[in-house]
Amino acid sequence: MPAELIDGRAIAKKIRADVAERVKKLAESGVKPGLAVILVGDDPASAVYVAAKGRATEEAGMYSLTMRLEADTSQSELLAHVDALNDDPRIHGILVQMPLPKQIDPDFVIRSVDPNKDVDGFHPINVGKMLVGERDGFIPCTPAGIQVLLKECGVETPGKHCVIIGRSNIVGKPMAALMMQNTTDANCTVTVCHSRTKDLREHTRSADILIVAAGRSGIVTGNMVKKGAVVIDVGTNRVKDEKSKTGTRLEGDVDFESVRKVASLISPVPGGVGPMTIAMLMANTVRAAELSLSLR
Ligand code: GUN
Repeated sequence: MPAELIDGRAIAKKIRADVAERVKKLAESGVKPGLAVILVGDDPASAVYVAAKGRATEEAGMYSLTMRLEADTSQSELLAHVDALNDDPRIHGILVQMPLPKQIDPDFVIRSVDPNKDVDGFHPINVGKMLVGERDGFIPCTPAGIQVLLKECGVETPGKHCVIIGRSNIVGKPMAALMMQNTTDANCTVTVCHSRTKDLREHTRSADILIVAAGRSGIVTGNMVKKGAVVIDVGTNRVKDEKSKTGTRLEGDVDFESVRKVASLISPVPGGVGPMTIAMLMANTVRAAELSLSLR
């Protein structure tokens, strides 16, 4: 039997409905959550993601501020904007879209965001809290969304071998940190594979849960997957497609057709992880606003 599909859109809708309820509740205390998103430059993929984040913020009933800065913006200009947002009481969450142009050091920018407004969960304070298992920080949106997908699909994780391909600070590393925690929605034995891993197939074939965030189309094929495994595809590769109206389409990192024949559960691209990333950003923003009440 081919693998069942994970409906990321439906699960994200549930999360967003919960966020909208919490936004209404905050209104009773006179608080409207606000999310500021900064885009530097004109990378087309980033522009699409940033526009989607702004729309989702408004749909949730929150205040949305999108700043689009020129590609040659200096680091000090960007930092001045972040500083102003750190002090702006209308803003509870700040996200600086990655990647940034070459003249800007992303680590410096990430450290300049107030950890209490760091809804990306990228600040070292929040990364550290996640690693030691403290739940009062912010968890990066994509790995947090994947954990929710697994939970909502009834995937039992304790004792399972979770293999992650990719070691980025946005997905691979935080995903590994989450899946190894001593919690009921994790407790996995975790292996992280990357560009220097020898014999990738040997690792992937022993995965009960395989999370692919390599940024390379087709890096995982059916013969690399154990029968019955759960496969999560984080890839968002834009490829040429003459049959599509736009001439391109979105493709994951997983060779969907061959992997679907072996896996028990698989997240499609699009419609799997992508919608969850935005839903978790909304959840982190409403949480930042709720926490701001207790900091008053
Ligand atoms: N670029 C790709 N994914 C992300 C994300 O989750 N947050 C930010 N800030 N930039 C990204």
